[in-house]
Amino acid sequence: MTKTITGFSKLSKSEKIDWLVSNYFPNSQSAKTLLKQYWNADKKLQQLHDEFIENTITNYYLPLGIAPNFLINNKIYAIPMAIEESSVVAAASKAAKFWFDRGGFKTTVISTQKIGQVHFMYHGDSGKLKTFFTNLKAKLIEEAKPITKNMEKRGGGILDIELRDKTQDINGYYQLHATFETLDAMGANFINSCLEQFAKILKEDAQHFDLFSSEEKDIQIIMSILSNYVPDCLVRAEVSCKVEELTENSNISAQEFAEKFIQAVAIAEVEPFRAVTHNKGIMNGIDAVVLATGNDFRAVEAGVHAYASRHGKYRSLTHAKIEDGVFTFWMEIPLALGTVGGLTKLHPLVKLALELLGEPSARELMQIVAVAGLAQNFGALRSLTTTGIQEGHMKMHLMNILNQFEATSGEKIKLIEHFKNNTVTHSAVVEEIEKLRR
Ligand code: MEV
Repeated sequence: MTKTITGFSKLSKSEKIDWLVSNYFPNSQSAKTLLKQYWNADKKLQQLHDEFIENTITNYYLPLGIAPNFLINNKIYAIPMAIEESSVVAAASKAAKFWFDRGGFKTTVISTQKIGQVHFMYHGDSGKLKTFFTNLKAKLIEEAKPITKNMEKRGGGILDIELRDKTQDINGYYQLHATFETLDAMGANFINSCLEQFAKILKEDAQHFDLFSSEEKDIQIIMSILSNYVPDCLVRAEVSCKVEELTENSNISAQEFAEKFIQAVAIAEVEPFRAVTHNKGIMNGIDAVVLATGNDFRAVEAGVHAYASRHGKYRSLTHAKIEDGVFTFWMEIPLALGTVGGLTKLHPLVKLALELLGEPSARELMQIVAVAGLAQNFGALRSLTTTGIQEGHMKMHLMNILNQFEATSGEKIKLIEHFKNNTVTHSAVVEEIEKLRR
């Protein structure tokens, strides 16, 4: 048994599974059945999913949940969330309801600029390179017109191209640093196509620039790629209310709750170990909506965490204060999202999620996603500073434990009732299941 193969991608789906099972699950009766069980009976739908990536063997389900009652700039939304973690949708819904009664979320898009770079090497006189670039800039923009003309018709396109000297960091290293407005598209393909066009002209025209020596004419393009760091594609989300309206539960006064909450945020502003977990909670909300709406959550994650470190230390993305008796909780984050292109017209559930949100523009989606993040952080901090996180978590986790033990619906009803007034722990649940079954 070699466990390696050439030409795997050329095999049919069934052949791929046969190879996989005979090499990696030789003693399993169920692996093949399981993989096939997740195929969709609708052949067209299955083919669509098969063709999203290479070497598809089956589908991998995530639950799609809804967090209703989000009031954002006086408009009501039911937000779709694709996520596996038990308590996230429940926490979002609870925070939505809490703020619904206190004026809802207020959001603004601060900026929508995307960035891409051509990284290249040039060994020679930097003054001559500057002259060359100044002469070339208009041509770079003009020659990209076949790529940019449709985007320009809609009001977007290339905003600027700069030559950046990075020779302090690496000998001979320069960049074309370009900025773009991509409107409702996330813009990755658009930006990368423009950049590759810039790179081609840069290299070609350098060969004919009279001021360059023969060595200077030999510009070496290293790569052309967009940046997922988008500190000028920013959205702000905020909630506020009078401190006395911040009633949480009877065990804690509104004032004490507000103060503890602000302390919790302050800790995440100075302590990276806490900040990472704090921001992870924000990303629970953000990723779930990003994924449900067919956007690239890895790009968002990378950009958001870089932004959290922009002052040289990893910090909280959210902030909170009390001023003149008013509690305010807010966040500014970079989000490069799209509501056209990519999966948005392709994946039936993504289409449904966008329809549910009222076919938002990318700007509107930025605001909805930011709210989901802020709501999630509010929910987490509210639990952490009052009851503790485990109470809610374990209640939600109860269902996972019950499913693990293949509890029947009758057993589930009885055990959920029992654990309304008893602490959920793995062993307590197991004990109760055993008791019931005895
Ligand atoms: C768990 O997924 C997220 C939390 O840890 C976030 C936080 O601690 O703020 C609850």
